Amino acid sequence: MEEVIIAPSILSADFGSLANDVKLIDEAGADWIHLDVMDGHFVPNLTFGPPIIKSIRPYSKKPFDAHLMVTNPDDLLEEYVAAGVDIITVHKEVTPHLDRTLARIRNLGCKAGVSINPGTSLSGLEFLLEKLDLILIMSVNPGFGGQSFINSSIDKITAVRDLVSCKPINIQVDGGVNNVIAPQVIKAGANVLVAGSAIFSGSDIESYQKNIASLRCKT
Ligand code: DX5
Ligand code: ZN
Repeated sequence: MEEVIIAPSILSADFGSLANDVKLIDEAGADWIHLDVMDGHFVPNLTFGPPIIKSIRPYSKKPFDAHLMVTNPDDLLEEYVAAGVDIITVHKEVTPHLDRTLARIRNLGCKAGVSINPGTSLSGLEFLLEKLDLILIMSVNPGFGGQSFINSSIDKITAVRDLVSCKPINIQVDGGVNNVIAPQVIKAGANVLVAGSAIFSGSDIESYQKNIASLRCKT
């Protein structure tokens, strides 16, 4: 796919002034707003859910990209949609009836994605391509921002690109993406880059603009 989409993760924003950071990151050139929902079960960390998402929704018109790191994604899908998300990504490891869940997400009017942990195989995705708008390759073990990129993710991105071929499915990479890693994952076939710590360093719009622009550079 052609244009690179930059999706800043607000996990690295200032939660004390989250609405303002969402507004700033939007104005700084974010394409999507990446929302890391964590439940303290699937991952050893807790973040936020539908009420917080609803409260920040007015501060950006960009697509809200919800990455559900929860053991029971099926339970609250309607609530995420009501809160204003546009894309819902569930984890392959905890979604037993993926085909059904992806269809439900689309029926609710959202784009549907599946996320794959570093230790999870791509097996089975070949049967789901018609129901997928996005495949998220986790390039760290999910739960925390600021971790180092796991290098084997590059081979996985290449494999997903081969699987997806020219189908209109976004290939998203999440975890440890910075301006050194970005050209490598783009070259391997990714078109959506999530970044938290690399974007939310500094606390003004100029820093955010510069950080976002540095991830777009292709080699
Ligand atoms: C990790 C989250 C990521 C994370 C990325 O569980 O899904 O979105 O916030 O943060 P960085 O870019 O700092 O690795
Ligand atoms: Zn994420």
